[in-house]
Amino acid sequence: MPIRQFTARNFRCLVSIELEADPEYNLICGPNASGKTSVLEALAYLGRGKSFRGAVTTDLIRHGEREFVLFGHVAVGAREAKVGVRNSHEGLEIRIDGDAEGGSAALAAALPLQIIDPDVHNLIGGAPEQRRRYLDWIAFHVEPGFLDVWRRFRRALKQRNAALKSGAAATTMEGWNASFVELAGRIDSGRRQALEVVTGRLEEAGQDLVGSEVGFEYQPGWNEDRGLLKALEDSMERDLQQGSTQYGPHRADLKLMYDARRARKLVSRGQQKLLACAMILAATETAQVALERPLLLLLDDPAAELDSHSLRRLMRRVVALGCQVVATSLETKLQFFPEAASVFHVEHGDLKRVG
Ligand SMILES: Nc1ncnc2c1ncn2[C@@H]1O[C@H](COP(=O)(O)OP(=O)(O)O)[C@@H](O)[C@H]1O
Ligand SMILES: [Mg+2]
Repeated sequence: MPIRQFTARNFRCLVSIELEADPEYNLICGPNASGKTSVLEALAYLGRGKSFRGAVTTDLIRHGEREFVLFGHVAVGAREAKVGVRNSHEGLEIRIDGDAEGGSAALAAALPLQIIDPDVHNLIGGAPEQRRRYLDWIAFHVEPGFLDVWRRFRRALKQRNAALKSGAAATTMEGWNASFVELAGRIDSGRRQALEVVTGRLEEAGQDLVGSEVGFEYQPGWNEDRGLLKALEDSMERDLQQGSTQYGPHRADLKLMYDARRARKLVSRGQQKLLACAMILAATETAQVALERPLLLLLDDPAAELDSHSLRRLMRRVVALGCQVVATSLETKLQFFPEAASVFHVEHGDLKRVG
């Protein structure tokens, strides 16, 4: 199981909670604003070193407190690791078995997880950055060298943009193009590999959840016929004017196609949610196969926006994945969630096992 024991202190409304997690199914229930999402967000923070909702530290530390602390016993292969995160206004501290070196990438490797929350449809209709992150997450878990290349590319992009802003000479900028293009090409091929492994699973999940043909259309961030080097050369004047790089992997997008049409044009929010769930489940399965271990899947109010037919299909797929699941619900029962689940009640910043 990915996480056996979890504690959180002063995270959002949670005063101090302890969760002895079931290896398979866990249900967190409680009334509105009791702290259900906070429990999931705390778990996600332990696996990512940041909020999945984009919340800032000040909003995450319980009002009136100076820091929050999260701690978990997680399974890394055959052994167990102690993973801890402490966040105060002074900064974020990450420790894995006492070691502070690894940073958030080490957290992500120790506790790989995915989240389906009520905003999941934004993966289809929202900004491209979310979809780039989606693809990079798969590449990170499937290809050991991807993170290093990704970091080097981020650095190169930052330097390039800084030079553009400071009005560097066009000839100086052109001298950097070759190495920028080389790193960009490696990001691009990492993403294409990730796409290749996830696409079959997406097609299957899409067929199962929405009963339609679903696929990806990938755009690398520049015109492939023209090539990135030419694109950079042609846009040099504009890049200098705007102080930023117009073409490259940081402009990539991944469009979800539904019966050969762009899925974001679909009217139904419920359908968008199902398609986004298909994407998340396909990515989870891909990483599980690559890592040869179960992942943690967080489901925040999965019943929202779904009719019972769709919810049943979603839950069936979730169960078939064989990951550890922590789900939330207003009631002590969640339709189609396995009866054998451990049930916890959260209220007034406290968590208790009730079933
Ligand atoms: N930093 C914080 N300190 C104290 N309370 C907070 C903080 N951030 C959010 N809350 C409160 O936590 C409560 C529970 O939020 P949430 O976990 O989203 O509830 P649920 O998902 O059960 O509806 C809300 O009333 C919210 O105002
Ligand atoms: Mg909530």
